[in-house]
Amino acid sequence: MLLPPDLVTPVLVVDQARLERNLRDMAASAAARGIRLRPHAKTHKTAQIARLQLDLGAIGLTVATIGEAERFADAGVADLFIAYPIWPSPARVNRLRALADRVRLRVAAESPAAAQRLAPLSHGASPPEILVEIDSGHHRTGVPPDRAGEVGLAAARAGLPVAGVFTFPGHGYAPGAREQAAAQEAAALAAAAAALHDAGCERSGGSTPTAQLTADPPPTELRPGVYVFNDAQQLELGVCRGDQIALAAAATVVSHQAPGRFVLDCGSKVIGADRQPWSTGFGRVLDRPGARIVALSEHHATITLPPGMALPDLGQVIAVVPNHVCNAVNLADELLVIRDGEVFDAWRVMARGANS
Ligand SMILES: Cc1ncc(COP(=O)(O)O)c(C=O)c1O
Repeated sequence: MLLPPDLVTPVLVVDQARLERNLRDMAASAAARGIRLRPHAKTHKTAQIARLQLDLGAIGLTVATIGEAERFADAGVADLFIAYPIWPSPARVNRLRALADRVRLRVAAESPAAAQRLAPLSHGASPPEILVEIDSGHHRTGVPPDRAGEVGLAAARAGLPVAGVFTFPGHGYAPGAREQAAAQEAAALAAAAAALHDAGCERSGGSTPTAQLTADPPPTELRPGVYVFNDAQQLELGVCRGDQIALAAAATVVSHQAPGRFVLDCGSKVIGADRQPWSTGFGRVLDRPGARIVALSEHHATITLPPGMALPDLGQVIAVVPNHVCNAVNLADELLVIRDGEVFDAWRVMARGANS
């Protein structure tokens, strides 16, 4: 990634050519398998990337919160799935009703109790469709596949159309785990569709590590999010190559106090503090694969270099890849878009902080 000169750091930069290639590759991969793409917009939270995804054939977007749905509806996105088991309090039901009047809305349910509480939405002009959340092995949320019917029945009794089932195979986020997670996802979605007595219903799956793997039977819809930018986690899991990393924090070398060690001005307030047990550090330095980000404080990233690797100069600007790009983006007001080493645009992270 060629960084423009004179950047005021720390700042998140997006390589437009890499971003567009990532978007095209995922769109082509889904289309070649006859799978609909409904990318998760929590990763980018920007109207510009949403538009690119829809122009490349995405049927709509996935979001995690009602707030994100409201922002993307404001930005003109007409088809949204809230893939999160929100608890339907009266205030949330009112917001969902207002959204359903504006867009084609899909909402998750993962218990009969939650489904029943969505009943007031059945009186609206265009009630949202329900997708039952099932657990395919991640053990976070979702009912076991063979109990999808109970939730579906409760939603139908609440007067709401049941479109199908969905799952998130997050257990694919570990070295060597994604093939098995994709197979479990496919089997769980098929079993849940059978439990709904609706073999042709929506079977929505997908995470970035599993989205391009072949599964039998394949999901009908995929919801990857991170693929737009990729990040150090995807790199270390072998999901992407270094030249598919489309977002980095541009950071300045501010200190050199020991051989083989330097400090950059991008701390946890810029790249986020996520670190999986299998991560090699708090992110990666794009053009120095042997470097390790060994410590992070709010405004400092401490990097160590392997023996023999030259220290960068004080004041030099370096590209750092966050471990988990979604959290880094949610910390930024805007993303600088670069093309051929020049800044040519700034995109507002317009759904930043829309977490409720
Ligand atoms: C329900 C759901 N769907 C889709 C995704 C997107 O997957 P990824 O972050 O691997 O791109 C997530 C990510 O957390 C998710 O929670």
